[in-house]
Amino acid sequence: MEKSVINFLKEIVIEAGKIIKENFNKSNTVHYKGKIDLVTEIDIKVEEFIKKRLETIEGDFNIVAEESFDGNLPDDKVILLDPIDGTTNFVHGFPFVAISLALIDKDYECGIVYNPILDEIFTAESGKGAYLNGERIFVSKTDNLEKSLIATGFPYSSVVENIDKLLKLLSNVLKNTRGIRRAGSAALDLCYVAKGVFDGYYESNLKPWDVAAGKIVVKEAGGEVLNIEGESYTFSDKFIIATNKFITKDLLRLLNGV
Ligand code: IPD
Ligand code: CA
Ligand code: CA
Ligand code: CA
Repeated sequence: MEKSVINFLKEIVIEAGKIIKENFNKSNTVHYKGKIDLVTEIDIKVEEFIKKRLETIEGDFNIVAEESFDGNLPDDKVILLDPIDGTTNFVHGFPFVAISLALIDKDYECGIVYNPILDEIFTAESGKGAYLNGERIFVSKTDNLEKSLIATGFPYSSVVENIDKLLKLLSNVLKNTRGIRRAGSAALDLCYVAKGVFDGYYESNLKPWDVAAGKIVVKEAGGEVLNIEGESYTFSDKFIIATNKFITKDLLRLLNGV
C-alpha cells in the first residue's frame, strides 16, 4: 500500500530529529539575525536535510522554511517548516525544542511537531484527531480562568513595540489565572494546549512556520485558535490565542482589557 503523506513526513522529521539530538548540549556555532535572534549551524542543517528529502514529495508544493524564507507565502499547496522552534532553548540546553512541519493542500492539512530530546511527536490531520506518540490527545476541560495555566511567549526585543502593554497583559493574566509559563517554543506551547497541559496560550508577532503545525494539532484536539478579535486565526494576524474553547470568552476579555 502506498504510504500516506503524513507517514512520509513523519519519517523525514524523525530522521531530522537525530541531527538535533546528536548536537544538543554541544557547542554549536551561533550566528545573530538580530541582537537576541539566534540561528545555529544546526538550524540550517536540519532545514536543508528536510528540504532535500521533500524533493521527492508528489504534487507541486511550495516549501516555506524559516532560514531560507524569501518573503513569498502562498496560501495553498504549501509546506511550512521551522527546523528548530526554540533555537534559544537549543543553544542553552533547555530541552524544549521542536521541528515543526505543516502541509496545507486545499481541503487537506496535516501538522507534525517533534521534540527529539523528550521524544514527543505530536501529529494531526484534518478531521482525524490529534495524537501524541500515537495516542489520541484532547484539550483540557477547565472552564474557570482562575484554575487555568496559561502559556505565552515574548517577541525578540527588537520587535517589542510597547513593553508597557506587554507587561500590562502579563499582569492581567497573572492576577486572574493559576499561572503563566514561557517555555520558548510556540509550536510546543500550542501542542501542550492540545494535550490539556495548558488551558490557553497567547503570543504576538509570530511567523507562519512557528504556528502552522501546532494550530492543526490544537484544532484536532478540540481546541480553537483565534486572533485578538475572537475570529479564526490566519497567518496575517498579529496576535494568536489558543484555548480549550471553554475559557475563550474570559481569556479574550482579559487580553482585550488593556
Ligand atoms: C521562537 C519560538 C518562541 C517565540 C519566538 C519564536 P525560533 O521561534 O517559537 O517561543 O516566543 O517568538 O520566534 O526563533 O526559536 O524558531
Ligand atoms: Ca528563529
Ligand atoms: Ca520558530
Ligand atoms: Ca526556528
